[in-house]
Amino acid sequence: MEFAKKILCIGAGYVGGPTMAVIAAKCPQYKVTVVDINKARINAWNSDALPIYEPGLFEVVKQARGRNLFFSTDIDAAIDEADIIFVSVNTPTKSFGEGAGKAADLQYWELTARNIVKVSRVDKIIIEKSTLPVRTAEAMGRILNANEKGIHFEVLSNPEFLAEGTAIEDLNDPDRVLIGSQLTPEGVKARSQVVEIYANWVPKEKIVTSNVWSAELSKLVANAFLAQRISSINSISALCEKTEADVTEVSRTIGMDSRIGKRFLMSSVGFGGSCFKKDILNLVYICQSYGLTEVADYWESVVRMNEYQKRRFVQTMLKAMFNTVAGKRIALLGFAFKADTGDTRESPAIEIAKQLLEEQARVVISDPKALDNAKIDLAPYVDSDRIEFVEDPYVAAKGAHAIAVMTEWNAYKTLDYKKIFSSMERPAFVFDGRNILNHKELFEIGFNVFPLGQPTLKHF
Ligand code: NAD
Ligand code: UGA
Repeated sequence: MEFAKKILCIGAGYVGGPTMAVIAAKCPQYKVTVVDINKARINAWNSDALPIYEPGLFEVVKQARGRNLFFSTDIDAAIDEADIIFVSVNTPTKSFGEGAGKAADLQYWELTARNIVKVSRVDKIIIEKSTLPVRTAEAMGRILNANEKGIHFEVLSNPEFLAEGTAIEDLNDPDRVLIGSQLTPEGVKARSQVVEIYANWVPKEKIVTSNVWSAELSKLVANAFLAQRISSINSISALCEKTEADVTEVSRTIGMDSRIGKRFLMSSVGFGGSCFKKDILNLVYICQSYGLTEVADYWESVVRMNEYQKRRFVQTMLKAMFNTVAGKRIALLGFAFKADTGDTRESPAIEIAKQLLEEQARVVISDPKALDNAKIDLAPYVDSDRIEFVEDPYVAAKGAHAIAVMTEWNAYKTLDYKKIFSSMERPAFVFDGRNILNHKELFEIGFNVFPLGQPTLKHF
């Protein structure tokens, strides 16, 4: 069969895999290839055990794989045949040199760009799918177009807004798709080709076009605003704990104001995930590099508040448990950074587990999907006799002095807490870092309950 377009995605991660699977499923007329340097990852994409856990993903992959969706490690061949190349490689925070700890590390992106130049024989559209600093397209355009083969590469920005755990829903029915280009005739023509891909299933009014710099910046700003809402409500959770106000009541009330809106106002033990912290720090770095110190400080405070919330959670545990957790068994329910994913990148549970281990607690990590990643995150402690990894929450809680909810998995809401209580040490504590449990019921069972931003329920 002759395909209408040949689309390539470089980077088969949390974004590249699901995004391309949905494009392929929606557009059987296009050939969609996803490549990666990580052979194990590609093998997993070609198997029944996909490399990432995401509800609904397997069904979408199965529908298109082998028909018009292909996963491969032959990067050069795939670049050569593609008309349109999405680049979705990782862009972590730089860990060395100038901008270390804040700026985006663009080495993977640049390597990819250089490889595209080396292999290509005809003009191509190159799309930034990764989240990148504003004006990266300029640098990429220079690298790509400094070739002596007379090939023209048009660089567009099409940032991805999916959230993990709901990636397939988000891709099937996005709030918007953003495509930024240069406003030259070539830029606008390339942009219309990308609009055409999404128009196969996304209503036209949800496909937003802009200049390339606005597109790059909008992605960073969207994540900064989302994270800022969480830090704002988390800051208020601390004040609620001092004043007997209830943060869930405050969230509900302010969220009913349509100018504020009700989503992303759930107080938590802190936001995690691979992107919020990285993207805000990147924004901070960009502002600093333009001399906008006040703007940089404003956004940096969102990250500082998140660190404070994690520290505060451990301090609450310590204080409640008579100022020591040394030798005490503490079961962490959940390790993923949010429910419905096995991803633990920047999960608040990592920091909290480490702080509890530093306090010499005996920590039991429980999670339905994230234990393999948890073992990697806590590798320096894995051989310690003070850490255990147990999938079954009942086994994790047995003999524990406290349980602490780290991830809002639905399954934790309906556990048999009477059974758990009867297997625990006394006094038994619950610290609900997600406010998902029925606190009154737990108190009546006999637990001492410490929700976030709500009055504590204690038997002493
Ligand atoms: P990821 O680490 O899961 O995947 C990136 C993949 O790129 C890896 O498999 C890696 O092996 C591969 N790679 C790196 N260099 C390569 C090269 N030279 N050639 C081929 N493959 C290469 O990362 P991710 O979570 O998919 O994020 C990718 C980008 O998307 C980041 O910029 C991130 O900020 C952005 N983003 C992520 C999410 C999310 O939910 N995870 C959502 C929106 C945007
Ligand atoms: C986030 C954004 O929501 C996506 O739009 C964006 O594409 C993505 O980052 C990215 O660029 O990587 P994600 O990190 O997958 O998606 O998940 P979120 O649902 O945003 O949750 C992030 C963190 O905030 C989680 O730890 C979650 O538990 C926490 N959170 C979320 C709260 O603490 N309270 C809330 O009310 C909402």
